[in-house]
Amino acid sequence: MRIESAGRALMPALLLLLAACGKTEAPSAPAPAASVPATASAELQALYDRSCKACHAVPGTGAPLSGNAQAWAPRVAQGIDTLLDHTIGGYNAMPPMGACMDCTEEQFEELIELMSGTTFD
Ligand code: HEC
Repeated sequence: MRIESAGRALMPALLLLLAACGKTEAPSAPAPAASVPATASAELQALYDRSCKACHAVPGTGAPLSGNAQAWAPRVAQGIDTLLDHTIGGYNAMPPMGACMDCTEEQFEELIELMSGTTFD
């Protein structure tokens, strides 16, 4: 009898605990928005919006997210020549030309700088 009542007394506390757990897990925190600095020229921003953003601003695509220095660091370390090669020729799930068929090599470099937050020489 005593054990039973102790159990009953514990029930609300347990339910509260469960509810509290549910609260922290249910609404998963929104992923930090991938963003590029607002300093990009309108033209470059338009190219980015039209081509690169579809993947590089979407978590889960496997693409290093724009503005995520950590994700870009090992890629930047390869050097701009490799990055340009991979952009123009494609690289795994990264489509050739980043789906921007009319982008110039110079624009690709600027787009990579924009997304990675790095300035190449
Ligand atoms: C269809 C989706 C998609 C689009 C569109 C896209 N990318 Fe990517 N990109 C990826 C993925 C996925 C990776 C990661 C590939 C890997 O590491 O396996 C990637 C990787 C890269 C890399 C790193 C390559 C390396 O060597 O590490 C660069 C640079 C890049 N993208 C540039 C661009 C640029 C510039 C654009 C727009 C002109 C663009 N991407 C558009 C999906 C995309």
